Amino acid sequence: MEHPLRLQRLSEPWLPQIMSLDRRSMNSGWSEPSFLQELTRTSTTVLGVVSAEALWGFGICWQILEEAHLSILAIAPEHQGKSLGKWLLWGLLSAAATQRAEWTLLEVRASNQRALNLYHFFGFSVFGQRAKYYADPTEDALLLWRKGLNTDQFQADLYLWQKAIHTALGEQGFCIES
Ligand SMILES: CC(C)(COP(=O)(O)OP(=O)(O)OC[C@H]1O[C@@H](n2cnc3c(N)ncnc32)[C@H](O)[C@@H]1OP(=O)(O)O)[C@@H](O)C(=O)NCCC(=O)NCCS
Repeated sequence: MEHPLRLQRLSEPWLPQIMSLDRRSMNSGWSEPSFLQELTRTSTTVLGVVSAEALWGFGICWQILEEAHLSILAIAPEHQGKSLGKWLLWGLLSAAATQRAEWTLLEVRASNQRALNLYHFFGFSVFGQRAKYYADPTEDALLLWRKGLNTDQFQADLYLWQKAIHTALGEQGFCIES
């Protein structure tokens, strides 16, 4: 059986599902007003992976001039490991490039190997570390960045990544809605 799936920008009505998914997956500690603010800010992209009106994943990216800052990337625990995180990050990078970002930055727990593998796939590299940046449990953050979002090469990469991700999703029985 095919499961319909789409990437879409999220607005205010999605707030309850965003909060619930954040608690189950990322546990960012963001408050409801913080999420609400991001959903209404024009310089922020909030992108969701949606299946039949259920939120399976979401990501948040702030754009400040030529910099895109990825602040949240979360896939529901029961849907992790199915290429959805890759698709979501592809969507955020694609949106950042469209909005003329030149590079993108993020912080990640040093032990989060799954996320690190994902970021390396898209060409991110480590450029720094913040000691004891995270709480519960206390842990260092690695700072990652990816430059060249404004290049023709990046557009070509986006195209190839999209084809590969769509193939992987199709093989798992997902049907991508436009
Ligand atoms: C990190 C996260 C967004 C990745 O999304 P996902 O849908 O699980 O990942 P995908 O299935 O798209 O896999 C993408 C890549 O991650 C890596 N990966 C996936 N599952 C993995 C696992 N169990 N162990 C190690 N690496 C793994 C692989 O490199 C994979 O690429 P590949 O399929 O070409 O090998 C998701 O696991 C998540 O929401 N985790 C909790 C919240 C979090 O840590 N967010 C990131 C904070 S910076």
